[in-house]
Amino acid sequence: MALDHLSHDCDVLVIGAGGAGLRAAIEAADLGCSVHVVTKSLLGKAHTVMAEGGVAASLGNVDDRDGWKVHFADTMRGGQYMNNPRMAELHAKESPARVKELELWGAVFDRTADGKILQRNFGGHRFPRLAHVGDRTGLEIIRTLQDHSIHKTTVAVSMETTIVKLLKDGDRVCGALGYERVSGRFVLIKAKAVVIATGGLGRAFEVTSNSWEYTGDGYALAYDAGAELIDMEFVQFHPTGMVWPPSVKGILVTEGVRGEGGILVNSQGERFMFNDIPENYRNQTAKDKEEGWRYVTGDKTAMRPPELLTRDHVARCINREVKAGRGSPHGGVYLDITWIKERVGGPAKAAELIRKKLPSMYHQFLELGGLDITTERMEVGPTTHYTMGGIHVDGDTQMSTVPGLFAAGEASGGLHGANRLGGNSLSDLLVFGKRAGEFAAKFAKEQKAGWLDQAQIEAAATDAVHWMDAPTGNENPYTVQADLQKSMQALVGIVRLEGEMRQALDKIQEFKARAKKVCAPTGRTYNPGWHTCLDLPSLLISAEAVTISAIERKESRGAQFRDDFPDKSKEEAKWNMVVKKGPDGKMVLERRAVKPQTAEMKQIIEDQAK
Ligand code: FUM
Repeated sequence: MALDHLSHDCDVLVIGAGGAGLRAAIEAADLGCSVHVVTKSLLGKAHTVMAEGGVAASLGNVDDRDGWKVHFADTMRGGQYMNNPRMAELHAKESPARVKELELWGAVFDRTADGKILQRNFGGHRFPRLAHVGDRTGLEIIRTLQDHSIHKTTVAVSMETTIVKLLKDGDRVCGALGYERVSGRFVLIKAKAVVIATGGLGRAFEVTSNSWEYTGDGYALAYDAGAELIDMEFVQFHPTGMVWPPSVKGILVTEGVRGEGGILVNSQGERFMFNDIPENYRNQTAKDKEEGWRYVTGDKTAMRPPELLTRDHVARCINREVKAGRGSPHGGVYLDITWIKERVGGPAKAAELIRKKLPSMYHQFLELGGLDITTERMEVGPTTHYTMGGIHVDGDTQMSTVPGLFAAGEASGGLHGANRLGGNSLSDLLVFGKRAGEFAAKFAKEQKAGWLDQAQIEAAATDAVHWMDAPTGNENPYTVQADLQKSMQALVGIVRLEGEMRQALDKIQEFKARAKKVCAPTGRTYNPGWHTCLDLPSLLISAEAVTISAIERKESRGAQFRDDFPDKSKEEAKWNMVVKKGPDGKMVLERRAVKPQTAEMKQIIEDQAK
């Protein structure tokens, strides 16, 4: 390659150093492969840390009625049966072992009185199932995996390095080209197998819990390499993000607040979640405050409070209150944990408990919003949090439809169906990160090194730097990104309509044209403008995949709510939406039959529904 670059050679390249990437790297290294991990940001800074409230695993430490079958049935019901049932089965069966393994590797968890890992309630989980450490569980998991992986001599790490192109030898992947953010130097990595673990696409929306890195890179890299993306219409709006002050709008407020007894109230002081309890939860949901409190404090005979319904439902209820003019001053609703003083023996005891159980939330609101959550109500509203869809993978091996290309965690699709239960992301990344690493290692061992085509590399490198030569009067890449975010938020958000989504598609075409005319004139050394030029195609591919899939699904299910098709449709329930790059380079959509449940899994779902 003519352009100045660094070169690496490995068996398995892992793109992304969140929980899924690190767990995949550990597994592949344990199996004797040389592993190279590339992260767009710094090691330890990943969206994994935004899964604060816990990791879902049916350990049964707090309620021994729990087990993998209940977890499986809850996940399928939460996902409204769009899930890949094989993935849901493996996830439910293997997550307890993955959590215990973390414990052996040194992860710290809160404990029950008899010393077991403590588990808390979360939306849609029938029993207290979320193993946690305060409200910093994702952080603890990242810390543990990082600690474990850097002690593997075969795991090399390139930080602040962004991959722009997967390289192929015939049908299979054989490496990747990226650049170092600081120096702008290219990085060429030869690999026998590649695992994509790049997280989601939150930055395609205006209000999001995702930080700057989450621009849908993994989806775009896989799509460009010929892989399929599945269920992209299902984007999760977490019900509770900060709404004030504006500089921190979207930052996550953990579901753990509701798991510890927090209630949602509108401006009229009404606990509005009681007004809309879905049919299939009616016989499980508490009718009064007292019963809900008994539930969150471990009374096995009590019914759950409505704040612990699934995220899709809670987010829509909040949205409705705000639209109806019953919101809080800054466009959210109130989340109140202070009220527990009535139950725990007064304000001082309540404050102590809140600070112990929710230390990050306490500091987050105090430092960013000047608000003390032990005495004041929080203002919260929905925030784009997670992509249920993603790279279409085989349920057992996590290999995509491109040989040698694997995906895990949020980058992959299938496990969560139409809506993800809180805490299932952390267990997902542990279970399927391990599997992706295992099968990528197996694939790598069976292959000879691929052949790196110089022409492919030159073309990708030339394409990546051409922004430097664009006329300086050209458009600012940040403006294009901001306009895309506004348009996705307004037209493909929590409540969708065909006409609006078609407008969004037209705008995406306009943004694509504008993205070709952006400029980044100041050279390759630490140039965030250039980095944004390179992020734009990923954002646009992701936004288009979400929008065309959402238009095609003519029903409301899980995270997709359509005002023009407000009900679930039996016909639409039969199909997953799959997009890929067509022969002419345009995105094509295909309906693919939802994977059938085995007789055994059907029986489990029926038994658990009783
Ligand atoms: O609310 C939360 O703590 C987020 C958890 C998750 O997304 O799994």
